[in-house]
Amino acid sequence: MNDTITAKREESETVIEFDHVNWKYADTEIPALREIDFKVNRGEFIGIIGVNDSGKTSLCRLCNGLIPHSFTGELSGNVRIEGEDVRNTQTARLAKRSGLVFPDPEAQLSQLTVFDELAFGPANLGLPKEEIIETVNKVLHLMDLDSMKSRSPYTLSGGEQQRVAIASVLAMNPALLVLDEPTSNLDPDGTKKIFQTMKDLNQNEGITVLLVEHEIELLAEYATRIIVLNQGKKLLDGTPREVFSKIDIFHQIGIHVPQMTQVSESAREDYGLWPNQQDPLTLSEMIDLLNL
Ligand SMILES: Nc1ncnc2c1ncn2[C@@H]1O[C@H](COP(=O)(O)OP(=O)(O)OP(=O)(O)O)[C@@H](O)[C@H]1O
Ligand SMILES: [Mg+2]
Repeated sequence: MNDTITAKREESETVIEFDHVNWKYADTEIPALREIDFKVNRGEFIGIIGVNDSGKTSLCRLCNGLIPHSFTGELSGNVRIEGEDVRNTQTARLAKRSGLVFPDPEAQLSQLTVFDELAFGPANLGLPKEEIIETVNKVLHLMDLDSMKSRSPYTLSGGEQQRVAIASVLAMNPALLVLDEPTSNLDPDGTKKIFQTMKDLNQNEGITVLLVEHEIELLAEYATRIIVLNQGKKLLDGTPREVFSKIDIFHQIGIHVPQMTQVSESAREDYGLWPNQQDPLTLSEMIDLLNL
């Protein structure tokens, strides 16, 4: 391991690439994903949003090879993770490049202690014991879990369990961390802490983050890029400012834009205020706009 959790990588800037991807689960009529095409560069923090059944989880499953290796169906196009085609690469090998965290932390835990939980993946890869201990200690520290390393993961709070689940994925030293609604079972404090942790990992450890979330306000604040899925297609893709300025599209598909953006737009439409100003995304931007 190097100084940072992600070992220095020589590969290209592109961490993951979807190239005209279509996916249909076996025995279903409608494709879950249609003509999905995008590249994620190293260091990006991507938020994925979309209503139910828009294909978010399916996209996550493609990011670590669960599709097509553990699901049957029809796949066309290519998904490459650090240049490796998911079709031709074993999931154990892909796990060193891309890790997936699910909504329910408890379902991802299996070991008697937090330490063992983190050591489980690297041990399965057959890494030397000293290297495993060094990695686990580093990740425990990074995720603020040192004091819990001897505890049973099942005795922890939901937020702590989700941090253990994230830590166990990080112990595999992935370039890309994919999280499918990781805060859906957490309270507001636990949710905020997960977002802050993702930001720290992204900015300090160089980990590329792809986060599926319903927390629009937090995504507007933390993500560097937002992708909106609708009926299996990529509908919007850009910076939070670019994407959330398409208020009409959000209304059509039934997702709200950040509260401050909505208030600002109503103030302009209904009261003619700040006609030439960009709508704010966050409370601090609104305060700036109001010169408070
Ligand atoms: N294991 C599966 N077998 C068959 N069809 C599936 C399976 N998983 C998902 N689907 C279907 O694929 C489509 C996309 O589902 P997916 O779970 O990817 O959407 P989602 O955006 O994650 O939804 P949600 O917000 O409910 O989590 C839906 O029509 C869904 O019914
Ligand atoms: Mg889902």
